[in-house]
Amino acid sequence: ATAQDSNKFKIGLILPMTGQQASTGRQIEAAARLYMAQNGDTVAGKKIELIVKDDVATPDVTKRLAQELIVNDKVNVIAGFGVTPAALAAAPLATQSKTPQVVMAAATSSITEASPYIVRSSFTLPQVSVAMGDWAPKNGVKTVVTLVADYGPGNDAEKFFTERFQLNGGKVIEKLRVPLRNPDFAPFLQKVRDAKPDALFVFVPSGAGAAVMKQFLERGMDKAGIRMIATGDVTDDDQLNDMGDGALGVVTSHHYSAAHPSPANKKFVEAFQKANPKMRPNFMAVGGYDGMRVIYEALKATKGQGGGDALLAAMKGQIFESPRGPVYIDAQTRDIVQDVYLRKVEKKDGQLYNVEFDVIKGVKDPGKAK
Ligand code: DHB
Repeated sequence: ATAQDSNKFKIGLILPMTGQQASTGRQIEAAARLYMAQNGDTVAGKKIELIVKDDVATPDVTKRLAQELIVNDKVNVIAGFGVTPAALAAAPLATQSKTPQVVMAAATSSITEASPYIVRSSFTLPQVSVAMGDWAPKNGVKTVVTLVADYGPGNDAEKFFTERFQLNGGKVIEKLRVPLRNPDFAPFLQKVRDAKPDALFVFVPSGAGAAVMKQFLERGMDKAGIRMIATGDVTDDDQLNDMGDGALGVVTSHHYSAAHPSPANKKFVEAFQKANPKMRPNFMAVGGYDGMRVIYEALKATKGQGGGDALLAAMKGQIFESPRGPVYIDAQTRDIVQDVYLRKVEKKDGQLYNVEFDVIKGVKDPGKAK
């Protein structure tokens, strides 16, 4: 590091900027830059430098980039991580180098256990899936087929939805897992049609929801009397407005909607759309925005001195109002604790939104109790 470097605070932001998960990178980078524009790029006397790297959501690339950022660029924090395998690939490097790793997107429960240097500002799939396992059986859904992307977060969604749904007397007829890469939903949806459940429960990662919705509607599943229920990853605000009126009425559980009716969120959405006129912020954007908040406040609390351990300590326990609602970083688990909402796709001012109609307050990741 040069003398000039001592006046800098570097954040290495590793994101999928290209490929299947590119919308995640686009959303998080835009939100991180918005946070910096609103809060200044100098904190506790340090000039914040954001170094964005594209890992194409490929864990080998994530690992190499994390290594380069830590060793060559001497970043103070690594952040981003669009998918679970990417977050897990960087974890050993965070541990070895004592560099805080702020996970802004990836959402498999176990990620925070992969390194004591991980802090998460996104969510976990168990956290949002149990809410649907409570809601569905009270609302006419007695039988379900689950359809999830076949990797960490999909397995978490399947397990935690199923456990809660069955505890409430529901029956899961079949559990389907679709490959993460280039999924073809058609053969799976055919199986669902044949099984004729009351509802299909879906988890696919951000960016894949529109394809599932399109094929669900094209195959006339809704007309055959099969409802779609899902985590909010499917009715992703990045894509929702282009899904068409067929998406109306779909109920999901999640931690963020662009339509969340708080003054803080209205301010966030307006500022985001002013800076990025073609985009609507989604749950990835809010994870990136809040992740920057966690980093900025840790740097302030350590008066710009922050080594890795001091920064990490100052990240734990932070409590604040996010655009999604009230949140805190659990000091024990380093996971975010937040409200989870039930939402229904409705039209507002001619646009499709996830409109919240119920809330479960202060939900901790249920995956950690296991
Ligand atoms: C993950 C990725 C997503 O795009 C999402 O919506 C949820 C979880 C993940 O890989 O952890």
